[in-house]
Amino acid sequence: MSVAKKEYKRVTVKSLIEMKQDGEKISMLTSYDYSMAKIVDAAKVDVILVGDSASNVIAGHETTLPITLDQMIYHASSVVRAAKRALIVVDIPFGSYQSDSKEALRSAIRIMKESGAHAVKVEGGTQIKDSVKRILQAGIPVMGHLGLTPQSIYKFGTYTVRAKEEEEAEKLKEDAKMLEKLGCFGIVLEKIPAKLAKEVAESVSVPVIGIGAGNGVDGQVLVVHDLLGMTHEFNPRFLRRYMNLYEDMGNAISQYVDDVKSRDFPNEEEQY
Ligand code: KIV
Repeated sequence: MSVAKKEYKRVTVKSLIEMKQDGEKISMLTSYDYSMAKIVDAAKVDVILVGDSASNVIAGHETTLPITLDQMIYHASSVVRAAKRALIVVDIPFGSYQSDSKEALRSAIRIMKESGAHAVKVEGGTQIKDSVKRILQAGIPVMGHLGLTPQSIYKFGTYTVRAKEEEEAEKLKEDAKMLEKLGCFGIVLEKIPAKLAKEVAESVSVPVIGIGAGNGVDGQVLVVHDLLGMTHEFNPRFLRRYMNLYEDMGNAISQYVDDVKSRDFPNEEEQY
């Protein structure tokens, strides 16, 4: 069953605001390479996030901190070559926007110029206000990211649910309002109570996309490798796996090994 309300040839930041106004939920998924982005785009996912989760999923790091701006641009360019419909948003990686707003703008400009992506995403609230402002002033659309912000994992200490206490919840609500006022076109809320996420989504005019933030927000985002079950050690409550590719791919590859060893592959038809 398709529940899309309008056909979009190319999803833009304006389309997302329109979807929120129309009550159409927004789908967002990560991609980091050409082949996956082709599939994700053909499935009509509205927003492709070239997330810094590439640091975990693609490079095997424990956190998102090590990935570099050059590496993000490489991933983003591959996705841009594949996706013809989705809006492409790229994470500005840790260490490329926190020092000062000029550095933040330089990083955002490199992403836009060198990859051809459509927007950038940054983590944090008041502490990055000047950077967000400067990037927006240059005409680059910015998406915010509040709640569990993995680039600050060593400050939090754990990946548990954020903003359960009143003080942190109030600060998050203020930060969301501030990002909206600055001109961000959307906000990701990660791993916070569903009730709080719904309250935030209802209090701002821009789309709020949740991951582990319940169903009261304007859209959902997941890491595509988690959704497909390619990762299997990561099992948070919010994750719905639609496939078990870890097992299926493993079985297919074992079969290939057996076929090579047994001389079954290649057969008569599979050679020249
Ligand atoms: O990097 C990423 O994949 C993200 C999502 C989890 C929102 O930021």
